[in-house]
Amino acid sequence: MHRDTAHLRLRQISVTFGDTTAVAPFDLEVAHNEFVSLVGTSGCGKSTLLNVVAGLIPPTSGTVTLGGHPVGGPGRDRGMVFQKYTLFPWLTAAQNVEFALRDKPDLPRRERRAEALDLLRQVGLGGREDAYPDQLSGGMQQRVAIARALSYRPEVLLMDEPFGALDALTRRVMQDLLTQLWEQHRLTVLFVTHDIEEAVYLSDRVIVMSGTPGQLRREIPIALPRPRNRDLASDERYREACAEAYEEIFTAADTALS
Ligand SMILES: Nc1ncnc2c1ncn2[C@@H]1O[C@H](COP(=O)(O)OP(=O)(O)OP(=O)(O)O)[C@@H](O)[C@H]1O
Ligand SMILES: [Mg+2]
Repeated sequence: MHRDTAHLRLRQISVTFGDTTAVAPFDLEVAHNEFVSLVGTSGCGKSTLLNVVAGLIPPTSGTVTLGGHPVGGPGRDRGMVFQKYTLFPWLTAAQNVEFALRDKPDLPRRERRAEALDLLRQVGLGGREDAYPDQLSGGMQQRVAIARALSYRPEVLLMDEPFGALDALTRRVMQDLLTQLWEQHRLTVLFVTHDIEEAVYLSDRVIVMSGTPGQLRREIPIALPRPRNRDLASDERYREACAEAYEEIFTAADTALS
């Protein structure tokens, strides 16, 4: 089935803004149900790449395909979650999710509501469906944003520092929630973060980028068993993977500065 062979492929992607080349030819393949993180110093092109995959920025050259089909613009096969809270403040949690389902003509209003409530329950917000965003904490708002992104059943979830604005404890809870949803929905995830430990904890593979222009510097496979838990902190392989990523990032930054 199409869904089982879904495979995200970036080929020779480059992005130029005026006279700035944000991303140099960049190649990446992500397998179906793989969790891949992009890390790298600020400005190395992570968001630009994610936006290209989302179809929000057209690449200057190169192609993105999903399941063999070229990605031309935004589409329901890809869900996006941003660092900034992006909910409509005048809509409740449930209405925000329902809004994302508005152009599913085959879905009657009552079912849209039921689906929104189900998704909110899955992200741990059962009972808070009628709250407005300003009545919810940052973590809760991001849960709604995740529910919204999942509502159209995307194959790929694109996340740009989704937990960047959250406190450390909430962040941990959200990481475990994301892992759970990733398994349940059999998602392919492309995740941008500044937090190396977060990238290693969540991912099957960590891509270290260097800039500028943004390039793939190193791929670090994370062969840690799943399910993962916080005991990993004392696992030698976990610590080694983190150290390797840090070293690559710092070397890349030094190279860029010298
Ligand atoms: N719309 C734009 N117009 C002009 N330049 C841009 C635009 N968007 C990004 N850039 C430039 O492209 C480069 C990469 O930016 P990008 O936002 O992708 O970096 P990033 O890795 O996501 O950084 P951060 O970690 O700070 O979020 C930077 O030099 C940035 O100034
Ligand atoms: Mg960014």
